[in-house]
Amino acid sequence: VYFQHNFQQVNSWEKQRVESEMQQDGVTFYTLEEVKQHNTSTDSWLVIHDRVYDISSFLEEHPGGEEVLLEQAGADATESFEDVGHSLDAREMLQQYLIGELHMVHTYSWTTWLIPALAVAAIGLMYRYYLVEQKSS
Ligand code: HEM
Repeated sequence: VYFQHNFQQVNSWEKQRVESEMQQDGVTFYTLEEVKQHNTSTDSWLVIHDRVYDISSFLEEHPGGEEVLLEQAGADATESFEDVGHSLDAREMLQQYLIGELHMVHTYSWTTWLIPALAVAAIGLMYRYYLVEQKSS
């Protein structure tokens, strides 16, 4: 029972830590994974230039039709938004649907170090080879 309690405590600390990281300077950050969950006609979010928009109430009002928006729902629509060449008016409309920003998830793994490590090893070997060549000549 003690361990279970303790585990819950640690869990809630971790939750608080993540939540405070996701809420900085009054900006809420969402991961792309989170955005992906909102991909229906009653609940649709999309990302344009790293900002997250809840466009559920805008679908029917979109001059370009709701079909094209639904195709992008839950995804990064930056490219399609720019391809259309939206007017300044359209860009200003974005603001009222803004709910937060995209949270960049940094993923470091051992492979991050693999290439530099191999490069260092290769240079080391070349240097050794070079010294041996010099000694023998
Ligand atoms: C919340 C985001 C968006 C807003 C506020 C918005 C707003 C608008 C507005 C105001 C127009 C009228 C023309 C103009 O003022 O430029 C328009 C047209 C259009 N939009 Fe969007 N749009 C959004 C997202 C998108 C996306 C993601 C796509 C593409 C998948 C798209 C495709 C179109 C198309 C095809 C038209 C018609 C262009 C035309 O008839 O000339 N829109 N949009």
